[in-house]
Amino acid sequence: MNHKDAKTLAKEKLPEKRYKHSKRVAETAVEMANIFKGDEEKCFLAGILHDYCKHDELSEMYQYVTEYKLDPNLLSFKAEILHGPVAAVRMRNEHGIEDEEIYQAIMNHTSGRSRMTLNEKIIFVADYIEPKRSQPGVDDIRSIIYDDEDLDLAVYEITKANMLHLVSNDRTVYPKTVECLNYYNMVKE
Ligand SMILES: [Fe+2]
Ligand SMILES: [Fe+2]
Repeated sequence: MNHKDAKTLAKEKLPEKRYKHSKRVAETAVEMANIFKGDEEKCFLAGILHDYCKHDELSEMYQYVTEYKLDPNLLSFKAEILHGPVAAVRMRNEHGIEDEEIYQAIMNHTSGRSRMTLNEKIIFVADYIEPKRSQPGVDDIRSIIYDDEDLDLAVYEITKANMLHLVSNDRTVYPKTVECLNYYNMVKE
């Protein structure tokens, strides 16, 4: 799929605010691909499409989990986690995006996982630090990326922040997120 088609696909599906966020994620991811020697093409496509299912009905997402035989544990989680995996399988099955790394990047942007590929990590981080993000601590993550150029540490710090937020709100943590935290705690320097 070329950039124009991907942009049209996202633009037609998403509310304007979400589309603009997706564009900023794609642009941030391309910028990061330059720094970390990632694949600009994959980063752009995964970035523009990562939130394709963000605003879908939860019941519809559950149908896709079953139809495409995704992890059945997903049925105990909500849109926050599900919109990644559901967008990934829909891109693959309905829009012909076959690339494994784009698939994984879209799939895991909501949860992280252990042993993410380079471009997958770029999308995970770009989603968190795109220029309009203003959550507490985001400038520290930007500094880890643009000053220290330490992608694994950024993945760790983002996962830690996400997990602390979930736990302090008595929320259930999706197992891939726990695996992500443990793995990047081990590999970060
Ligand atoms: Fe998302
Ligand atoms: Fe996003």
